[in-house]
Amino acid sequence: MSSQSNLNEVIPLRVKLGHSFTDQKPGTSGLRKSTKQFQENHYLESFIESIFRTLPGVKGGILILGGDGRFGNRKAIDVIIRMAAAHGVRKVITTVDGILSTPAASHLIRINNSIGGIILSASHNSGGKDGDFGVKINGSNGGPASESLTNSIYACSQNLKEYQIIQNQEISLSVPGEYEIFSMKVEVIDGLKDYIDLMQTIFDFDRIGAFLTKDFPIAFDALNAVTGPYAKKILEDILGACKGTVKNGVPLEDFGGCHPDPNLTYAKELADALLLGNKYFFGAACDGDGDRNMILGKGCFVNPSDSLAVLAANADCVPAYSSGLLGIARSMPTSSAVDIVAKDLGVKCYETPTGWKFFGNLLDSGQITLCGEESFGTGSNHVREKDGLWAVLFWLQILADKKCSVHELMHRHWSKYGRHYYSRHDYEEISSEIAKDLYQRVELMLPSLSGKQFGRRVVKLADNFSYKDPIDSSITTNQGLRILLDDGSRVILRLSGTGTRGATLRVYLESYVASDGNLNQDPQSALCELIRDIDYLAEITKRTGMTSPTVIT
Ligand code: G6P
Ligand code: ZN
Repeated sequence: MSSQSNLNEVIPLRVKLGHSFTDQKPGTSGLRKSTKQFQENHYLESFIESIFRTLPGVKGGILILGGDGRFGNRKAIDVIIRMAAAHGVRKVITTVDGILSTPAASHLIRINNSIGGIILSASHNSGGKDGDFGVKINGSNGGPASESLTNSIYACSQNLKEYQIIQNQEISLSVPGEYEIFSMKVEVIDGLKDYIDLMQTIFDFDRIGAFLTKDFPIAFDALNAVTGPYAKKILEDILGACKGTVKNGVPLEDFGGCHPDPNLTYAKELADALLLGNKYFFGAACDGDGDRNMILGKGCFVNPSDSLAVLAANADCVPAYSSGLLGIARSMPTSSAVDIVAKDLGVKCYETPTGWKFFGNLLDSGQITLCGEESFGTGSNHVREKDGLWAVLFWLQILADKKCSVHELMHRHWSKYGRHYYSRHDYEEISSEIAKDLYQRVELMLPSLSGKQFGRRVVKLADNFSYKDPIDSSITTNQGLRILLDDGSRVILRLSGTGTRGATLRVYLESYVASDGNLNQDPQSALCELIRDIDYLAEITKRTGMTSPTVIT
């Protein structure tokens, strides 16, 4: 063990804060702010101190630490290591170059018996000096911290007067190694290995490899973010996909100026290659920290709700799930496509609020095996986060087994279960005031909507979604405005909990066509009446001045 410090007798510094920071309330997924704000003196330290004062088991515990490589990652790792040492953490496990995807972090937390992890990422938000930075906190089960924990962290930050840190030179993250700082161990490990080992226990790599090397060209876009090294190793080195399969595979501090969100708008190059070009049979992309995924076939975009339904319906192709699924869960705004599959499989389907943390109790208690969200997240009980590359491998395993194209697989699926036409319309960077007024106005209208006309449909039920956790009975309210219509269609309004600039209004649209109906429509035309009717009801164009959404998925 190399010791970069002989400061064992050194006393942690207590650094006084000029003022407490009152805006450190974690959103849907950790504390997410502009990089500039995080650069403000003591801003990061204040939040980390609040974590160390609140997270159970810090003294003597093991902590997992890493991030998606965005600007600020390394500096934050250095600060957190020194603060962890000051707080009596027994060991920090971090990774070479500080590169650690969110699902890989979740796995490391679980296999190292740790108290939890700190993941430095603002997920799919842009990075760099002019982008965003974020700090995500995961608990000992490997999943995002519960709301009660993040509320306590926030409460702590509100009145924080000082933080503790030790002075020590920055340790090198360029190669694996072990260090001792102020009687705390720091292990720098290869951040890829444990995750890749896990994938090999879930999937049949030989079978996927044989399929990929037999004339099935694929493209994976890492969007210059964290999944590049993982994907190169798995897809190119182990499975034998040709060199160059992984695009934008080196994590860059500003993601090369691109927005690391795998959707048709921000992963346009890949989308164009698959939807307009002829070169690839399969395409996929992941987000900044590797938990989201987008799946494409030649000429075919798979919406995430359908993706979850297809994975569930074909789970028997994957060795780890071949003995059946315990149950399935989806977030409320995710389409009901998976509900029909669950019914067919004879397993329960749970509907949770938006946010991966709500799947935690169901996974921990063995109620579900698979879960997913419309926001390009899919996962299983192998970790406690959604997992982008796992979803890609799952798709490849199914295709290797069925020996068909993505397009064919989708059509077979819809011909059996019917099709849930689905789309999400995002109105980004609206002034918070306008968004709040618009939302509150619709919320006030909800009780009177039932039985009223909504275009040519009639409202069956309108409410603000609330959830009672079936395991701990906790109740979460105000999770989105639902308008359920008499023909099974739904429109949902939500305000995003992950944006950092103004407000983002999300409109989720869903309409079901049975297997004997028209399964070949463009989703935007299939949903055009709902799009028109919600605009009329919620006065979106009128109030925001926006004639079309910023992003359509
Ligand atoms: C993060 C969470 C997801 C959640 C999403 C919602 O990515 O990890 O579980 O679905 O945020 O984002 P939104 O912007 O809609 O609140
Ligand atoms: Zn993410």
